[in-house]
Amino acid sequence: MIRVPVGALTPEDAAPLLTERERAVLAAFPAEKRRREWLAGTLAAKAAVRERLGPIPWLQMEVLNGPDKDRLVTVPAGLPPVGVTLTHAAGIAVAEAFDPRVERVGIDVDEVAERAPAFLEEAFTAAERAEIGASPARATAAWCLKEAVLKALGVGLSVPLHSVQVSLGPPPQATLSGEAEARRLHIGGTALSVSVQQLPEGILAVARLQMGLP
Ligand SMILES: CC(C)(COP(=O)(O)OP(=O)(O)OC[C@H]1O[C@@H](n2cnc3c(N)ncnc32)[C@H](O)[C@@H]1OP(=O)(O)O)[C@@H](O)C(=O)NCCC(=O)NCCS
Repeated sequence: MIRVPVGALTPEDAAPLLTERERAVLAAFPAEKRRREWLAGTLAAKAAVRERLGPIPWLQMEVLNGPDKDRLVTVPAGLPPVGVTLTHAAGIAVAEAFDPRVERVGIDVDEVAERAPAFLEEAFTAAERAEIGASPARATAAWCLKEAVLKALGVGLSVPLHSVQVSLGPPPQATLSGEAEARRLHIGGTALSVSVQQLPEGILAVARLQMGLP
């Protein structure tokens, strides 16, 4: 897993590490915040791919957003397929690369913060809210878990949030129903496991969906 502080490199500093298309995407974001986060996420993702596959020259790989807004990685021919998941929050970007033939991974980081009752109701089932109680840290951990699972499924917020149910445990767990479960079956996912850890900047959740036969 690779962590890159948001703002560590300016677009000018990072230019030698970015392909022409990556530089064009970066330059097209109107908002400075989005530019900084996308850049840190891209650098973390490319470093994560190198961590996994070896020192591929930076300009011979590309990490761009696909049609589902997740990141798609292109590496030189002859290398094994690689997927990447990333998150940017609380001043850092975190990325992990994985072998998509074996598993799909989703990660999410969030700062612990008070969440509005309306948000909690929309995001969590009654059982989840009962487990979270009044603790902002538990609500944040549960939300990170849910987002990590949604990213591992490759769906973002396009499925009902209640179709991913999380439990903090310990150990933390996630179960799928409805559209999330249909998505798991559609992509050939089998066992789903989740974990939570505390970072200095906030809470990090990781979801791993095994692929292929159990
Ligand atoms: C994936 C999602 C659920 C999480 O986003 P988030 O918690 O806001 O942001 P994070 O920094 O943790 O993650 C963002 C990254 O998730 C990844 N991602 C986006 N869609 C994804 C998908 N369908 N599957 C897997 N990963 C996805 C991308 O890499 C994205 O970073 P990038 O845009 O720089 O490439 C996102 O789909 C989403 O829709 N978030 C809500 C955004 C929102 O409502 N914002 C409010 C106003 S802008």
